[in-house]
This record gives sequence, structure tokens and C-alpha cells, in this order.
Amino acid sequence: PMRIGVLTGGGDCPGLNAVIRAVVRTADARYGSSVVGFLDGWRGLLEDRRIQLRNDDRNDRLLTKGGTILGTARVNPEKLRAGLDQIKQTMDDNGIDVLIPIGGEGTLTAGHWLSQEGVPVIGVPKTIDNDIDCTDVTFGFDTALTIATDAIDRLHSTAESHQRVMLVEVMGRHAGWIALHSGLASGAHMTLIPEQPFDVQEVCDLVKKRFQRGDSHFICVVAEGATPKEGSMEIRDGGIDEFGHVRFTGVAQQLGVEIERRINKEVRTTVLGHVQRGGKPTPYDRVLATRFGVNAVDAVHAGEKGKMVSLQGAEIGLVDLEEAVRQLKRVPESRYLDAAAFFG
Ligand code: F6P
Repeated sequence: PMRIGVLTGGGDCPGLNAVIRAVVRTADARYGSSVVGFLDGWRGLLEDRRIQLRNDDRNDRLLTKGGTILGTARVNPEKLRAGLDQIKQTMDDNGIDVLIPIGGEGTLTAGHWLSQEGVPVIGVPKTIDNDIDCTDVTFGFDTALTIATDAIDRLHSTAESHQRVMLVEVMGRHAGWIALHSGLASGAHMTLIPEQPFDVQEVCDLVKKRFQRGDSHFICVVAEGATPKEGSMEIRDGGIDEFGHVRFTGVAQQLGVEIERRINKEVRTTVLGHVQRGGKPTPYDRVLATRFGVNAVDAVHAGEKGKMVSLQGAEIGLVDLEEAVRQLKRVPESRYLDAAAFFG
């Protein structure tokens, strides 16, 4: 039997609790191992704040619960580096053999760095953005996509009634997976993603063209990280936060104002925001999260370290953390051109 430490880092994501549940059940039932949950991401390890997780009825009920019972936080990488000795101390004090951090780019990068420093780590990828490399999908994406698609479906009917242009901003800082897929799934007329800078005049021209041919409305999905082409339009952002991320202040809002100014058409903008991260995971995400949790614990007991569980086709496999965090998985050109073929 082993003693496993688990934590959730970065933004929360539907399915985190389902992973925790699977880790605790598998560790106990399959290996007689115990699991300690560190609270509020890496902070729990830096400050030795934790709870003992048990394979009981309460744990069972975590499958459908949104958020994370462990709490989560973003931690500045420098603070983490400065706390390496403390982290090792906390692990020693609690007899932790292996750590399972469940997180996105920031958390997995930290996990990779810790594993280079000799801490045994098996990472579990999570993000609604679906932008972690070396895994086909991350849990949370399907839930966010479902929420976004439902919202856009609803906007169609109100947009149609008023013959309006509707802009819908969805999450996706660096990658347009949610935007592209929710745009496709809901039959949006245009989708703007970070991977492909947009030209404001082209957006306006397409809106005009569609209304001229008698269309009732125009729906454009805008990823929060979508940016205009050089010289096309100035977008004001909120600067850079302490983690090096751009603070978004609403690209869709600003684009909406610009469209109204250029073509005198009534525009309404909806920013979906954190509603995309809330609530219970879809069945797909519950299953993927559970499979990740089970496989992470199997990997721990097989003596693996410095790895991340990943979905590869129909199977769950392991990849080197180093490879997984090398770059983000952005939408490839072929995919967005494919999708664009449905619009225009
Ligand atoms: O990475 C997940 C994500 O939801 C992004 O889509 C979004 O840009 C960001 O987190 C928002 O972060 P916060 O919860 O800190 O506002």
C-alpha cells in the first residue's frame, strides 16, 4: 500500500471531484492505499493544509458535484520554486509517496518541475479549454461545450425575432476549441478564435451580405482570446496579471460597438463567462474524469513517475509530463478551415 497526495490547481473545472472520487476508490479498493487531499492547490502543500480522503459514501457522491471539494488556487511559479523545501517537508511529514496534481498548463508545468526535483508525480490534465497537449480531450471541455451550445441555441430565437446581430463570448484564452465546437454545434454564422486573427471589416461585410440576402439574424461566437488583425481594430485589454496572463476585458463587447459604428446594425453581446465552468459535469466528462483517476492510481502503483494520463483514441495512456507541457494544443489550421467551410 502507498500513501498518495492529491491536489487540484488552476481554474476549477467540472469533473475534478469525479477524478478525486476515482483516485480514492481505486487506491483503497484495488491497492489498500490511502489518499490525502491537499487544500487550495499547491498552497496546501506549501502550508501543510490537508484532509484525509476516505472511500465512503460521501466520496461516492462526488461523481456529479461541480467545482472541487479540495479548493483550488493559482500559484505564482516563483513562489512555488521558493517553497520547494517546504513541499518536500510536507510530503515527508505526511508520508506521501506520490503526488497526483490535477490541473491545467500551470499546474502540470509545476508538476513537471517538481518531478525534475525528485518528487514522484503523476499528473491528470484538466481544463474546459481543451488546450493541453498530448491528450485528445480533457474533461470539462464537453461540459463547457454543452453549456455554450445551449446558450447559443437560445440566442438564435431571440436574435431572429429582432433581426439582430448577436455576439457570444465564450472562454478560451489561447485556444478556440470551445468557440469552434459550440459554433459548429449551434449553427453560428461565424466563429472567431485566437488561432486566426480576424479582420473587423470582413466581419462587417459578412454581416451585411447575410442581411442583404434576407437572413433573419447573425450569430457570431467569439473566443475571449480572439484578436483582431494588425491595424484592423484596437482592443483594450486589462494588462497582464501576476501569472503572465492577459486580463480580458471583453473583446466581444468592443467588437460589438465597432460593428454598430461601421454598419449601423443593432448588436447585442452576451459574455458567458464562468457559467461555463459551473455545475455538474456531463456524462462524457464524468466517465473521462473517472478513467483518468483510475489510471493515475494504476500508474502510481506500477511505479511510474513524471508522467501524465492522457486520452489516446479510445484508450487511456501515459505520456511524459515534459512532453505534455512543452506547448499548448491549439486548433490546427485544417480544423478551423474545415469549420469555416460551413459558414460564409
Ligand atoms: O483556463 C480555464 C479558464 O476558464 C479560461 O478559459 C479563462 O480564460 C480562465 O480560466 C479564467 O480564469 P479565472 O477563473 O481566474 O477568471
